[in-house]
Amino acid sequence: MRKFIITIIIVFAYLSCSDKSSDTTSVPIKQVLNDKFLMGTALNENHILGTDSSGIKVVKDNFNAIVAENCMKSVEIHPLENSYDFYRADKFVEFGEKNNMFITGHTLIWHSQLSPWFCVDENGQDVPADTLKQRMKNHITTVVKRYKESIKGWDVVNEAFNDDGSFRETPFYNILGEEYIALAFQYAHEADPDAELYYNDYSMNKKAKRDAVVKLVENMKSKGIRIDAVGMQCHVMLDYPSIEEFENSIIAFAETGVNVMITEMDMTVLPNPEKNDGANVDTSYEYQSKMNPYTEGLPGSVNIQWTNRMLDFFKLFLKHQEVITRVTMWGVTDKDSWRNNWPMHGRADYPLLFDRNYQKKPVIDSIINTVQKYN
Ligand code: G3I
Repeated sequence: MRKFIITIIIVFAYLSCSDKSSDTTSVPIKQVLNDKFLMGTALNENHILGTDSSGIKVVKDNFNAIVAENCMKSVEIHPLENSYDFYRADKFVEFGEKNNMFITGHTLIWHSQLSPWFCVDENGQDVPADTLKQRMKNHITTVVKRYKESIKGWDVVNEAFNDDGSFRETPFYNILGEEYIALAFQYAHEADPDAELYYNDYSMNKKAKRDAVVKLVENMKSKGIRIDAVGMQCHVMLDYPSIEEFENSIIAFAETGVNVMITEMDMTVLPNPEKNDGANVDTSYEYQSKMNPYTEGLPGSVNIQWTNRMLDFFKLFLKHQEVITRVTMWGVTDKDSWRNNWPMHGRADYPLLFDRNYQKKPVIDSIINTVQKYN
């Protein structure tokens, strides 16, 4: 009986989080946020090739910005030094243009999903610095020029720092030193002088990483190298990071004079084998069923916690709307999320704004009501 009463209380509490005011049910979130910041999502292969028609409808109805989840990474678009595969990238850009979306290219220089030939010679040894510079310039120039009229902004360099603020020892860094970052931005700007150029990373709430990125932006600006925004990926958990810590980074980046973008937002509800609060794709753990507790759906109490915390992040974004120009969710529905397979394959996560049945979650109406209350 006690359990039944507690369940009833939780259900009513959960329902009270989902705003029922009819003036929000039909208004798309992109429209309500239109004068605040772009509302984006990441497209996977099923969206790009048209096989997920329900997902495509969610994208068209609710978002006005898109980013390529995988198809523009070097291993996909430039698999061999003398061979490009633009098929999926072209379809992605075509979808964006047809639906009048702000299109972001992700990502020109990244150590992961990197074409195996990019930084090594035929014997697998690091290439000389000049060779790597030429390869970077060829890659960036070819890809950026191809989409010059369509892609408005590029994640030029992704995840160049460790959480302690040191440079990540990627093949680019090991061969060229920190100069590779400025070179990548320079090549991208030369290829498309009108494109916005971004530095993108995760765990940007961490002070050491924040300070390193601030220093990077200041150095680039002092050299007259174009950088328009810092991308904070925002792969967060139910209890980490704090809103305050995250806000400190928004403020610090904005104080350098660039915009801030929330580029890969998702909020996991799943336990982590270790306190793994980042998004380092190289991390992985063997499957453990105890780490996959919500295979039959989320308990009401967890739903409420997730809803309230997601709303808190959007309230933070609205508070800083004068510097935040885009908020992008890293996927369309929960079933699309990389979180279902990272850092452990085969789990059921619930990190995004639309559920596995393509239905919007109550938090969307809560966000809309928050905006309408303060408009
Ligand atoms: O395309 C192959 C397919 O041919 C093959 O059959 C299949 C099974 O092995 O793998 C497919 O490639 C996978 C790719 O996603 C496309 O689905 C890779 O194995 C898989 O590792 C890759 O995961 C992506 C991950 O980056 C790794 O780079 C995720 O989808 C993607 O969401 C994630 O996104 C990154 C951002 O780009 C940068 N920030 C962190 C974020 C999360 O890791």
